[in-house]
Amino acid sequence: MESKVALVTGGAGGIGSAICEELAAAGATVLVGYMNSIERAESLAAQLPQTSLPHAAFHTPVTDSIALSALAAEVGRRYGRCDILVNCAGTTRYVPHAQLNELDDALIDEILATNVRGSFATVRALHTLMRRTGDALVVNISSIAAVTAMGSNVMYCASKAAIDNMTKSLARALAPEIRVVSVSPGLVETEFVKKMDQAWRDEQVARTPLKRLASPQEIARAVVALATNLVFVTGAIIPIDGGRPIG
Ligand SMILES: NC(=O)c1ccc[n+]([C@@H]2O[C@H](COP(=O)([O-])OP(=O)(O)OC[C@H]3O[C@@H](n4cnc5c(N)ncnc54)[C@H](OP(=O)(O)O)[C@@H]3O)[C@@H](O)[C@H]2O)c1
Repeated sequence: MESKVALVTGGAGGIGSAICEELAAAGATVLVGYMNSIERAESLAAQLPQTSLPHAAFHTPVTDSIALSALAAEVGRRYGRCDILVNCAGTTRYVPHAQLNELDDALIDEILATNVRGSFATVRALHTLMRRTGDALVVNISSIAAVTAMGSNVMYCASKAAIDNMTKSLARALAPEIRVVSVSPGLVETEFVKKMDQAWRDEQVARTPLKRLASPQEIARAVVALATNLVFVTGAIIPIDGGRPIG
């Protein structure tokens, strides 16, 4: 992937940082997108193996469309291209599905604005620059919650279903210059998930045919595979879930 430039939103997060590392290990120049985690993003960009162009941390607040337009202009000015965009930024909070009153409008708006509008707005801001390469890739990090409707809350699950649907529309709209794919993880062994209730985690493992959770690196390698080998794939939802929905 030498000469390719990849932007990862939420790039300093648990899964996002693994995606940045795997893309850089495969030779891409990585732009680590962050919202609040500026120090983690800058230190990650500094640690990645060197490529012909410098890795860098970029502020990518996905709910701020004006900032995203400025970001696209800055990436164009500094790098002249964007080959890969990974929409990994996402937000949620645990609310039991039966507790409807606890899922208030503010949380609903935050989840939809970040996960759904934010993913679309980032593609909208960057698609003109991405089209220039003639062979670009958008990966939306979805979740099996989109199909199982089991996840941190009702609206999080719905937001991921919306992302998968959007993947198909955008794949059609942006072809042939830009491919658009969802990578749909099951539960991933991030630091956050490691701190969750052990009995609940054990139950998730027991219900997963492959009898473990995914590592962040396994999600990242799916992104790299889409960029390198799975080049005739677009508009697809790729589950990386150990078979959890059939468990
Ligand atoms: N962990 C799992 O088991 C799992 C399973 C399936 C899908 N996923 C999905 O995988 C993605 C990454 O999750 P994760 O587990 O790695 O969580 P995480 O560590 O919390 O990462 C999420 C990242 O999103 C960024 N973010 C949040 N709001 C943002 C905004 N408005 N603008 C820009 N960035 C924003 C945060 O950036 P800052 O830190 O810079 O503020 C954060 O680093 C999410 O889309 C999540 O839904 C996770």
